[in-house]
Amino acid sequence: NKVLYSAMQSTGTLTLGNYMGALDNWVKLADEYQTFYAIADLHSLTVRQDPADIRKRARDLYILYVAAGLDPEKNCIYYQSHVGAHAELSWILNCFTYMGELNRMTQFKDKAAKHSDNINAGLYTYPVLMAADILLYQADVVPVGADQKQHLEITRDIANRFNSIYGDVFTVPEPYIGKATAKIMSLQDPTKKMSKSDENPNASILLMDDPDTIMRKFKRAVTDSDAQIIYKEDKPGIMNLINIYSSITGKTVEEVEKEFDGKGYGDFKMAVGESVVNKLKPLQDRFYDLQKNKDYINSCIKENDEKAAYFANKTLRKAQKKVGLLERI
Ligand code: TYM
Repeated sequence: NKVLYSAMQSTGTLTLGNYMGALDNWVKLADEYQTFYAIADLHSLTVRQDPADIRKRARDLYILYVAAGLDPEKNCIYYQSHVGAHAELSWILNCFTYMGELNRMTQFKDKAAKHSDNINAGLYTYPVLMAADILLYQADVVPVGADQKQHLEITRDIANRFNSIYGDVFTVPEPYIGKATAKIMSLQDPTKKMSKSDENPNASILLMDDPDTIMRKFKRAVTDSDAQIIYKEDKPGIMNLINIYSSITGKTVEEVEKEFDGKGYGDFKMAVGESVVNKLKPLQDRFYDLQKNKDYINSCIKENDEKAAYFANKTLRKAQKKVGLLERI
């Protein structure tokens, strides 16, 4: 079976962007692959975190994966920090990655500008740890949002470089980026991506927002002044709402345009809001149920951590041997 790998950081609360750009696709693809889904808690340390806070978020994120429809008995959902091989391979790959390559990473540049008081080495080598994540599991496909595309490219470059020196050690992964959901935009500034770290609370739909909050945020969504519901580059607000609505309902863009022909923005925003509420409500209910089911979640974590470590260590040993580290006696 082909292998699918993906992960999310346990920073902040997930947004509708994380859900539609990643998690929802993970669920749709899960049956066709052998799957590994990590909580990238090591990546979260690249910005300063409150320990109690991040611990709780890491726990909740696991439950959220399950609530979204990933069966932890069929999908290996595990913690990056519980599998030592990630940090170990990451070190080796650091020695096969050029500073020039890392300097070009747009996400590093953005984050460094935002956290100018804490431009740490982890933030800089973040893409190398991500490459280690993916390559440890010999992943064929990695479903992510468009903002991770550059990180997938550097992962492929590192894998190809390593393979060209040592032979076929790593599978070279392909990104899987959904078309309409590649980049869900901010509801307040539709030229910017929807992001967990946005300071304006109306900009992002959070996965655990209650129905009233979701409806209110959609009602306030920034659009334009020409009152036509058509999919056009110069109407980024409406484009974003059409993308959300069409991928949730499964309707094509043309069908959506037809459905709202002659209708006002108010009606359209209500319909989009309702579709999101209906999509998230069952997930939220399952989340609160599962949160009470501590023993079940704990046993899934334990079993899957071990399973992940088994696969990861196989690749790690191979890489260690290839670069010439002395084998364990
Ligand atoms: P993270 O935690 O920032 O985001 C998780 C996933 O959500 C996607 N995403 C979006 N998609 C569409 N529209 C948006 N507005 C939007 N915002 C976020 C992201 O593209 C991502 O797929 N470095 C990764 C985590 C990671 C990882 C990995 C991913 C660590 N190791 C290995 C894949 C494979 C990150 O920070 O994602």
